[in-house]
Amino acid sequence: MIELKGIYKTFHTRDKEVQALKNVNLTINKGDIFGVIGYSGAGKSTLIRIINLLEEPDKGEVVVDGTSLLDISKKQLRSVRTNIGMIFQGFNLMDSIDVYNNIAAPLKNLKWEKINIQEKVNNLLKLVGLEDKKHAYPNQLSGGQKQRVAIARALSSDPKILLCDEATSALDPNTTQSILELLKQIHDQLGITIVIITHQMEVVKSICNRIAIMDYGEVKEQGDIVDIFTNPKSHIAKDFVYHSLNIKIDPEDFAEYKGKICKFNFYGIIAQEPVLSRLEHKYEITVNILFGNIEKLHNNIVGSLIVELTGESSNIEKALTYYKTLDTKVEVIRDASAANS
Ligand SMILES: Nc1ncnc2c1ncn2[C@@H]1O[C@H](COP(=O)(O)OP(=O)(O)OP(=O)(O)O)[C@@H](O)[C@H]1O
Ligand SMILES: [Mg+2]
Repeated sequence: MIELKGIYKTFHTRDKEVQALKNVNLTINKGDIFGVIGYSGAGKSTLIRIINLLEEPDKGEVVVDGTSLLDISKKQLRSVRTNIGMIFQGFNLMDSIDVYNNIAAPLKNLKWEKINIQEKVNNLLKLVGLEDKKHAYPNQLSGGQKQRVAIARALSSDPKILLCDEATSALDPNTTQSILELLKQIHDQLGITIVIITHQMEVVKSICNRIAIMDYGEVKEQGDIVDIFTNPKSHIAKDFVYHSLNIKIDPEDFAEYKGKICKFNFYGIIAQEPVLSRLEHKYEITVNILFGNIEKLHNNIVGSLIVELTGESSNIEKALTYYKTLDTKVEVIRDASAANS
């Protein structure tokens, strides 16, 4: 659906050069809710603006729905852009006109008939739950309501793709959640592909199926969200995941324990099975839970438990070997017998 190949972008200001994107390769599939996460300045907004060529890359290819956007005329590009809606952190509504006319504006530009505009805008107001605010002005709305208007406006020309640049960053946690639920509903109902740029792990966790993690202009890791969550590979991905699961472990925190300290990573079905008690019975070892965090992630259960295993060391080894056959990660964090020897 969207493919970025070998994208480079450097900004030149009076006193310096900023390399905002370095060899970015990204594939977003039709129907994805794709999250791009990274710290401030990582290049996320530059990347999303390249998808609809609001920003032109210095080098590379941008392919949307089979069309290479750098190879087509301005007129063709305008038509492609009607297939790509966009929403922003600051909503970008026109303050001098009411909700109805904000949503109708793109359709007026496309020279739609008045009667068709009326029908479309009324349907969109219903979709975003703002029928009673039709004649309100933007400054009479809350942040969440303004973003709903912006979403309705972005959807007016029935785009196949919706780009969201920090769309929830200015909102409180409850309003953020309600906007994310609306985006999910729109995705399911209209079959639209959504790209979400954010610095908040909570946002990608609640609705994205695939993510890319950016750092200093580069995509460091991309893939299925559950894979990245359960097995982050790059330094930056580990940082985001561990920070969000709150499980940055220092082995010395467990110095006073006598057993083997292990981290069990759970995901999917395994998290719903009594795996730990099975270990106790089958291998006659004791499992002492020290710390844990299990949560729901895009309909999967994921999380980690830090446990102390005590018992015959050969039994502990067998138990760990058994656990590994479940296709799950076990890390030994501290082994008191090894540490003392
Ligand atoms: N028009 C511009 N002129 C000069 N430098 C720019 C321009 N746009 C972006 N940059 C620089 O490029 C880098 C990437 O910026 P970008 O806005 O893409 O980051 P971001 O990941 O969206 O950050 P944030 O989370 O703060 O929005 C930054 O160092 C920024 O200062
Ligand atoms: Mg940005």
